Amino acid sequence: MTKRTKIVDVLTNDSLIGKEVVVKGWVRTFRSNRFIALNDGSTINNVQVVVDFESMNESELKRITTGASLSVTGELVESQGKGQNVEIIVKALEVIGDADPDEYPLQPKKHSMEFLREKAHLRFRTNTFSAVFRIRHAMSYAIHKYFNDNGFYHLHSPIITGSDAEGAGEMFRVTTLDLDNTPKTADGSIDVSEDFFGKETNLTVSGQLEAELGALALGQVYTFGPTFRAENSNTSRHLAEFWMVEPEVAFNDLVDNMDLAEDFLKYLAKYALDNCKDDITFLNNREVQEDKSKPQAERNELTLIERLEFVANNDFERITYTDAIRLLENSKPYKKKKFKYLPEWGKDLQSEHERYLVEKHFKKPVIITDYPASFKAFYMRENEDGKTVAAMDILFPGIGEIVGGSQREERLDKLKQKCADFNIPEEHVWWYLETRKFGTCKHAGFGLGFERLVMFVTGMTNIRDVIPFPRTPKNAEF
Ligand code: 4AD
Ligand code: MG
Repeated sequence: MTKRTKIVDVLTNDSLIGKEVVVKGWVRTFRSNRFIALNDGSTINNVQVVVDFESMNESELKRITTGASLSVTGELVESQGKGQNVEIIVKALEVIGDADPDEYPLQPKKHSMEFLREKAHLRFRTNTFSAVFRIRHAMSYAIHKYFNDNGFYHLHSPIITGSDAEGAGEMFRVTTLDLDNTPKTADGSIDVSEDFFGKETNLTVSGQLEAELGALALGQVYTFGPTFRAENSNTSRHLAEFWMVEPEVAFNDLVDNMDLAEDFLKYLAKYALDNCKDDITFLNNREVQEDKSKPQAERNELTLIERLEFVANNDFERITYTDAIRLLENSKPYKKKKFKYLPEWGKDLQSEHERYLVEKHFKKPVIITDYPASFKAFYMRENEDGKTVAAMDILFPGIGEIVGGSQREERLDKLKQKCADFNIPEEHVWWYLETRKFGTCKHAGFGLGFERLVMFVTGMTNIRDVIPFPRTPKNAEF
């Protein structure tokens, strides 16, 4: 028996022409009772399988429907027809699994993203989603490759934690207590000492604090894992469960941190262009088609490929928060009262402000630094002015914030003061504080939202469409 050949090899390996091959995959289309477009996920491209319908009986032919799985044995030949270089002339065909056309929900036509989200178990079988998930894989690999090539160690931070790294209080509780009958302390509150870990625990919102501990010995580390946030924001950019990449480097300051993040993002854009050509081209052309049916103002100024090339080849803009506020206050939309929220020093930037800076003013990725301490996390290093911290957010066109990071507060007295200001009991983070007590040093890091990166690289506009099974408020199906 001949071994199965992947369709990507059938389509690209010239030495197979004239040979007998076995391919297995799912039917995308079947036309004229003669031509099957078969896909096995190894590439966006289908192989054309030519059936001799006269030698097959009616009932067999009927089973070749969109979505059915087949095993095909035949000769690989150069194609006479247009649209493909090679095709397989069938010698033997077996329907492995039927897909009843009256029930199979995916038809060879365009389905809406909303419809496909409800069919998340089958949407991998569409061109768009197979492309997205192959690219997601390639980006994950490229992240590990970048860090490995640059001397970083992958550190596995815990998923169950007892601390709230971001201090935002948006955590999912982890407990084995009987919720209908929780043990109580004398004052009537839940007795967490009876819980599995003997204390209150939650799903992590970030691996950063643990990454810092690793960096202050291993020098350069990164975490890449799932993170969880119970923020009730039903937007196209938020998930309750998402993946975050968090590098942390000893002896780095904020400028080193920006340089690292910029180099990293440029590398990832270039990696996608160089290694995911077919899938990126497919998604690029899909977007160009979609744009045609949109009003001019909503169309993309650059195509997907142009946007990736732009990021790979151009320096990011760097501006302080204070200068960004000044710029916004002198902007056209400010003067024409077009902003819903007025930009004001001391308040966080709204997405309309970020979009103006990135998409209208600079028209490129922007790194905003030195935010007021008041709305940033407790671990960020206080600047000389006593009001701002050494924070950085990277904003991308069409995505918004893709990276958040900072130089960390390495001075024990300042960090203890911050804990007090943020109501973080020192006994909750005693281990974190000890790294400042013993051999402390400057260090910095950042977090890249992996799904936001995949949105940028694929051009998908809803974050639910770049993770296999999205977790959002009131939605944990599949
Ligand atoms: O800015 P954030 O909250 O930063 C941190 O968690 C730091 N501990 C990172 C660090 O310095 N090591 O989150 C980092 C990034 C954001 O810029 C965004 O891209 C993504 O994570 N992110 C989300 N992505 C999807 N859904 C959500 N709910 C997200 N919240 C943050
Ligand atoms: Mg942030």
